[in-house]
Amino acid sequence: MTDIFEFDQRTHSYGVMGNPVAHSRSPQIHQLFAEQFGIRLEYMRIQVDAGGFGQAVSNFEARGGCGLNITVPFKSEAWQLADECTDRAELAQAVNTLTLNRDGRRLGDNTDGIGLVRDITANLACPVRAKRVLLVGAGGAAQGVLGPVLDEAPELLWVANRTVDRAESLAKRHAAHGAVTGCGFDTLTGNRFDIVINATSASLSGSVPPLPGSLFADDALAYDLMYADTATPFVEWAQAHGAAQVADGLGMLVEQAAESFHIWHAHSPDTTAVMAALRSGMA
Ligand SMILES: NC(=O)c1ccc[n+]([C@@H]2O[C@H](COP(=O)([O-])OP(=O)(O)OC[C@H]3O[C@@H](n4cnc5c(N)ncnc54)[C@H](OP(=O)(O)O)[C@@H]3O)[C@@H](O)[C@H]2O)c1
Repeated sequence: MTDIFEFDQRTHSYGVMGNPVAHSRSPQIHQLFAEQFGIRLEYMRIQVDAGGFGQAVSNFEARGGCGLNITVPFKSEAWQLADECTDRAELAQAVNTLTLNRDGRRLGDNTDGIGLVRDITANLACPVRAKRVLLVGAGGAAQGVLGPVLDEAPELLWVANRTVDRAESLAKRHAAHGAVTGCGFDTLTGNRFDIVINATSASLSGSVPPLPGSLFADDALAYDLMYADTATPFVEWAQAHGAAQVADGLGMLVEQAAESFHIWHAHSPDTTAVMAALRSGMA
């Protein structure tokens, strides 16, 4: 672990652990939420080296830490470390929210999926019910969102991934939750979808997964989990290939944080104001 952190014992301490973590906007988001309710807290970024996650959590606990958000690449380790998990975190086999109880028990949850679903259905006013949905990617983020998206009862949901085995096994694990199929990119040719969610990390390297250009049905939504101050490569590609509506993942980021905040503080923050503040800060 590379960060050294000290605690003000009078405030409740939270943090985000990951590697890298310097870019994380979670401290700003949680402080803006806390201000809405007059809650005093500190929220820190904690960079953790490979192999050091369990020790880092123990150190945080020993210093009185109350809760952690977990980001790449530790969501799976966090799931293994939790003493108890919610059903959605169990299904995802990934934890992005750890609540550290005073009795030493660690409770794991995954708020990524509910964050994505709220952004799509409430903020973007796009119901998932009875839609044809394509989820591109089968990594940690896809694992977290698949169950909650299926809970919205789409007509069908295909998971397409570069490494086909990962898509197939993810789909198999979720088979009891809806009409879900795992496949490779080649299988997509000739099929059209109402909602296409990019949960790959391709945008991080400035690329787009090799998807057929005829993917979008009329009025389709293209959603990139990655967010940026300018259009992401996937958003640009989707616009050029006929998506009627596009969005990046900033709304999901804020909504998943709001759900974590609710778990820890039993308050539901106003996310619209926080999204606007982040967008204006990014511009
Ligand atoms: N907005 C939010 O709140 C939020 C939350 C979580 C994650 N995210 C974003 O979601 C994205 C994925 O994160 P993750 O945690 O799932 O990463 P991950 O576990 O490393 O998984 C990466 C996924 O991307 C695929 N991939 C990578 N490069 C590709 C390429 N060039 N072409 C096609 N597929 C490619 C991988 O395919 P293989 O299996 O074949 O390697 C895998 O499915 C990141 O951009 C992250 O920032 C956003």
